[in-house]
Amino acid sequence: MPTPGKTLISTPQIRKRVKILAREITRHYRGKPLTVVGLMNGSLFFLVDLLRELPVETRIECWRLKSYQGTRSTGKIQGLDSCGDDYSGRHVLIVDDILDTGLTLHEVTKKIRGLNAADVRICVLLDKQVPRKRDVTAHWTGFQIPNLFVIGYGLDLDHQYRTLPMIRVLPS
Ligand code: XMP
Repeated sequence: MPTPGKTLISTPQIRKRVKILAREITRHYRGKPLTVVGLMNGSLFFLVDLLRELPVETRIECWRLKSYQGTRSTGKIQGLDSCGDDYSGRHVLIVDDILDTGLTLHEVTKKIRGLNAADVRICVLLDKQVPRKRDVTAHWTGFQIPNLFVIGYGLDLDHQYRTLPMIRVLPS
């Protein structure tokens, strides 16, 4: 099957940026008890590449959520009820693939705050330049992208294309 769409962000660009983010995150959390919560499945590759560069004391959790059908948000987040732990005293970093309407990260942040985290921050690989439905800002962002549906490096279209090593745009 030919590779679908056009490359927006290449594999070397992603690698370079992830290393820079990891360095900044490591510096910020020095001496603090860090728990990384990765949102599955979209953040899978970004999460793993980032975690490889973080300190050995870092705790890892994965939350499996779903809000997209095809190329559209359903406006509902499935899976949130079954996720969570007690994060008392922990500094929690939420890692996601993409910040779009802001709905997912707004809900996840609210939930983690309610689980007694000492601090909650957000790191996303991509920040889509769209009007947000919720006021969410990521503390660390890999790349800002225009309002396009993207695939690859964990991002999918109906479960396909996640394994592409770069970010691509499908023809509209
Ligand atoms: P919201 O709208 O809640 O979106 O900020 C967050 C989740 O929606 C998915 N999403 C995408 N998935 N290509 C994808 O493959 C996209 O362009 C895209 N935009 C949003 C993604 O799962 C993200 O965590």
